[in-house]
Amino acid sequence: MATAVPMATRIPVRISVNGTEYAAEVEPRLLLVHFLRDNLGLTGTHVGCDTSQCGACVVYLDGKSVKSCTVLTVQADGGEVQTIEGLAKDGVYDPVQQGFWEMHGLQCGYCTPGMIMSAHSLLQRTPNPSEEEIRHALEGNLCRCTGYQNIVKAIQYAANQMSGAGVSGNGSGAGTHNPQDVGDWKGELAGEST
Ligand code: FES
Ligand code: FES
Repeated sequence: MATAVPMATRIPVRISVNGTEYAAEVEPRLLLVHFLRDNLGLTGTHVGCDTSQCGACVVYLDGKSVKSCTVLTVQADGGEVQTIEGLAKDGVYDPVQQGFWEMHGLQCGYCTPGMIMSAHSLLQRTPNPSEEEIRHALEGNLCRCTGYQNIVKAIQYAANQMSGAGVSGNGSGAGTHNPQDVGDWKGELAGEST
């Protein structure tokens, strides 16, 4: 006699992501990073390891930055998640995003969403961090390309912008173009630079 294979138990969750409420039924083992990427299509949150070390998956959960590969989706039930896709406001990049552009804080870009989310979290806590504080805050984020120098500069740029001091780019990033407008930047990537 055949043995029935039990269907995986699914648990209903309601999670707000970037201001939109989502209801779903998920397996208890489903990680938040996979819920974001596979269920919601928010692929800006990356998976860079399977050991909770790289930080490519950092998002906000209820205002705190977390590695979403270490959080079960059911643990986020009733919570508010913000991902890299939710950082720009009204089509204008957050100062941290602008900083990475201006200071060329990336090469392949794989670590960048997590770096930006961790940097954003740091600047919420510490608006004018020292270089040492920046490097300490990024200990949970690994980058295999940049050597971190320009990432630190990008965060310093953002801190200055947010404090109103303002600095100009060092010319090593996007040249003279300021990608404040999200649509403009996407157009550039698609070869539609104006
Ligand atoms: S994917 Fe989460 S820490 Fe690497
Ligand atoms: S820019 Fe390639 S891993 Fe950081």
